[in-house]
Amino acid sequence: MNEPLTLDFSKLTDQFSTVQLHTLFKKREVAKKNFKQKIELGEIGFSKLPYQKNLSELKKVAKKISQTCDTLLVIGIGGSSLGAKAALHALKNSKTPKIYFLENPNPDTLNHLLETIDLKKTAINVISKSGSTLETLSIFFIIFEKLKNTISPKELKERVIVTTEPKENFLNTIAKEYSLPLFPIPFNVGGRYSVLSPVGLFPMLVAGISIDDLLEGAQWVDQHNHDAYFYGTLAYGAHRLLKKPLTVLFPYDERLSTLGDWFCQLWAESLAKSDSSGPTPLKAIGTQDQHSLLQLFLQGPQDKWYTLITLEKHEHHLNIPNSPILKNFSYLKNIPLENILKAEEKATEKSLTEFENPFCRISLPELSAYTLGALFYHFELATAISGFLYEINPFDQPAVENGKKWAIEFLQNKQVR
Ligand code: PA5
Repeated sequence: MNEPLTLDFSKLTDQFSTVQLHTLFKKREVAKKNFKQKIELGEIGFSKLPYQKNLSELKKVAKKISQTCDTLLVIGIGGSSLGAKAALHALKNSKTPKIYFLENPNPDTLNHLLETIDLKKTAINVISKSGSTLETLSIFFIIFEKLKNTISPKELKERVIVTTEPKENFLNTIAKEYSLPLFPIPFNVGGRYSVLSPVGLFPMLVAGISIDDLLEGAQWVDQHNHDAYFYGTLAYGAHRLLKKPLTVLFPYDERLSTLGDWFCQLWAESLAKSDSSGPTPLKAIGTQDQHSLLQLFLQGPQDKWYTLITLEKHEHHLNIPNSPILKNFSYLKNIPLENILKAEEKATEKSLTEFENPFCRISLPELSAYTLGALFYHFELATAISGFLYEINPFDQPAVENGKKWAIEFLQNKQVR
């Protein structure tokens, strides 16, 4: 297997003293031990996902949907949507079926969508680990009813795919009642760590993305995990020792913008568990944020460190022409557009260096299922190890659950308006 990603930490490590790095490495060994112990106890399951077998049923159902439907509605929120959404934004190139992610219970956007699609050719994948998330179920209730009134019971059995935890909950009950295809989310895999489970894999398959390549990329990182652990350790050190509580994911490819949203959720929901353990994630996109957030980054509060993601190769080549209109721009004549992107990226690195801002670089040979799988898994491992360094639980989300509880209580007590 070729390297799906390489990391350069030199502009980050040079900000730490040798003593600080030594202390961090010692702490990392303890964190790794605790992490591995929990895996062995079966409490953490995401690290098994790159090696999962028995994906033939998932592939079969997805194939049928892509052959028979022109629309797939993915209903889910948070960890039940962001991973697949990021993958599709990065890699989807087939035009059909059209895939929409329904996350927010917004009557205007939902109504607009329902006016646009043809329900006769639509499938749903409803995803909720708990099987009880209010937003997901509300949207599902509306669409399921409409679909039930539009297509035959036989078609319904093929077109409503349920992804949930294998325990008693509403989604399991409805799947049984209507004999719907059901794909389990392992009980020890939390929402935001579930992109390599059926949660992310099913929509990716429908979109024509190679999940075998994706999982292979994740396996590579699992087998060469030193850099992911190092990243998680330096992230913790940047916060605690360099006093940089904000971390910015800065891909120089707009197709990785939604990966930035996925990363922000993973980082925030996993690591913010106390006043001193909440590093704040931000995303920026190259080059557009050079004309926006970069001013804040360079001359605003010096409280951030950066991860630049760079692509070594683009699929397409577009050259600036050698035309008379370029008479004052001779340095641009005949040069490929990706050279502009590269120059801008180098300019950002140069500026970050000049302003003494720490950063690391992740280089991908190309943007593919293989490299994306590696990126997903790299950040999951790094987040987990950071969590163990902060000595918090990176796998729960009590404050999110609190919000869920209140919303239901307001509805039950009719206190909405
Ligand atoms: O990462 C998490 O655990 C959360 O963001 C959940 O994914 C989100 O709240 C949705 O929960 P569920 O999958 O139970 O509907």
